[in-house]
Amino acid sequence: MKLILVLIALISIALVMGFPEMTYSQRVFLGYLGTFYMFAFLLAYSLRKRIKKLRKSKFLPGKSLKESLELHILTGLLGPAIILVHTSLSFEGLAGTSAGLMLVVVMSGITGRYIFNKVRKMERMLKKNKDAGGVANGTVALNGIEKMRSLLGRWRSVHIPLTTLFFITVVLHILSVYYY
Ligand code: HEM
Repeated sequence: MKLILVLIALISIALVMGFPEMTYSQRVFLGYLGTFYMFAFLLAYSLRKRIKKLRKSKFLPGKSLKESLELHILTGLLGPAIILVHTSLSFEGLAGTSAGLMLVVVMSGITGRYIFNKVRKMERMLKKNKDAGGVANGTVALNGIEKMRSLLGRWRSVHIPLTTLFFITVVLHILSVYYY
């Protein structure tokens, strides 16, 4: 699945950039493709994460929560790359604000991934330590994990509203294209 997503993104970008000038329909196609990449896989991850019944669903992309997150991260990078071609690097008005927010969300996502991986790594280390019967080191590690978990919580409380704001600007941008 990952390879297919990468290929679709690269072929679409290469085809459009191969033309001397991007046509209106090519631009619109890239806009929808990038938006689909960013939000469809994020939705799949969120549903899997938040609804227990869907944790192992075969109907969502990725076979597990871990794979769904990997797909979200991949499409969270490919989608914005497609959108950057869609914008022709011209950042004006509402569309420009939306693209700017998109870049902020991507940077925030990269930061979140770093914290997320740190928490998972510390959890694995603590488990190993516990299994080996260690107690003193375990207490120190537990404090460290709590700090990182709380940092992850604070990161989420910034990242999710930022994404919501970004999503609103995308909807407004699409509406403005059709109504004005
Ligand atoms: C435009 C692109 C992106 C959007 C709109 C976006 C949005 C979101 C949102 C709303 C969540 C919370 C999901 C939930 O809790 O239900 C999330 C989770 C996450 N995102 Fe992104 N993200 C994007 C790109 C990225 C990138 C590029 C990375 C990493 C390189 C990334 C890494 C993560 C990680 C690690 C989580 C999991 C946090 C957790 O579940 O605790 N995101 N993203």
